[in-house]
Amino acid sequence: MAKPILDVLSGKTPDRVPLWLMRQAGRYLPEYRNLRARAGNFLDLCLTPKWASEITLQPIKRFDFDAAILFADILLIPFALGQKLQFREGEGPVLEKLEDEKSLAKLQFDQKKLQPVFETIEDVKNSLPSATALIGFCGGLWTVAAYMIDGTSRQNFSQAKLWAAEKPDLLDKLIGILLDASENYLCRQIEAGAEIIQIFESWAGLLTGDKFDRWVIKPTRELVARVKRKYPHIPIIGFPRSAGDHYRSYAENTGIDAVSIDQQVTLDYAKELQKIKPLQGNLDPVLLVKGGEDMRQATLAILDKLGPRHIFNLGHGVVPETPPDHVADLVKIVRGYKK
Ligand code: CP3
Repeated sequence: MAKPILDVLSGKTPDRVPLWLMRQAGRYLPEYRNLRARAGNFLDLCLTPKWASEITLQPIKRFDFDAAILFADILLIPFALGQKLQFREGEGPVLEKLEDEKSLAKLQFDQKKLQPVFETIEDVKNSLPSATALIGFCGGLWTVAAYMIDGTSRQNFSQAKLWAAEKPDLLDKLIGILLDASENYLCRQIEAGAEIIQIFESWAGLLTGDKFDRWVIKPTRELVARVKRKYPHIPIIGFPRSAGDHYRSYAENTGIDAVSIDQQVTLDYAKELQKIKPLQGNLDPVLLVKGGEDMRQATLAILDKLGPRHIFNLGHGVVPETPPDHVADLVKIVRGYKK
């Protein structure tokens, strides 16, 4: 069966605007919170295929989105490299910080630790409706490096920014380790059944000027080239969140097939970007919390300006405060849209 999201990604005009939401599986859904409470621990949830596949499918059952996204986390790569990782209630992820060259030397990628993720993909593929695509993902190399260096996001990644300023060669080395691990991880996801890949560069906005080129553009281009060498038919969406004026260069120079844009990107700038690559995004997640007429008007503005060769999504993930009814309303608006 035709999948409209794959049409957009290959530059075709779909029958209707495809729609999915970043963090569509998560704490705003009561069925997620139930399972999360039973599992106790977020990492166990990610690494138990029957739970992870059930959670991946929860938003599909409720809202019939055009794509499911694998339930996992970008920090599973540091975990597979042997870095200690905890998800604390109400605090988010905490990693044991990388200090220096010696802590880098200890990192050893163990693909076996990620085996449950590939089993989840196989499980999901067996139960997904035939028109729904499955998205696999990894974090952007800079973003994952920033978490590994700082341990948490609490200090706004001050240590990672210091590495970029004072220890650029060490940062290159870490990014090189992440490049090899992420290539392997994405290729295994594709072999297990992922049909689209998204790269979440959530902290792209922390780097400017030459630093953006060196640690966002260049390593992304290399990762994309390596995956495409093996799997040229698999589309890759890049999400350099808060990249501002760098979005254009990201679209032109990384080799990705589509760009996901945050809510700060204006529709005029987006229209220009769309001449370079198909886009995804950029409804403000706060409007999904608010719902009603404001959400409707903003949604229609995006559809009018960017549709139908656009993948409807948010500018960042669904937040826990979001009423599921507003998500149902949003789906109705997007599905009912006619240009
Ligand atoms: O539905 C989906 O989008 C798929 C699953 C998914 C999760 N994390 C589940 C998750 C995806 C694609 C991610 C990506 C991710 N993880 C990113 C990039 C996207 C973004 O949001 O910027 C980042 C930076 C992370 C790291 C991470 N994981 C953080 C900062 C947090 C805590 C903050 C938060 O939103 O809770 C997590 C935990 C996490 N990852 C949860 C979920 C559903 C919440 C865990 C819980 O139940 O407590």
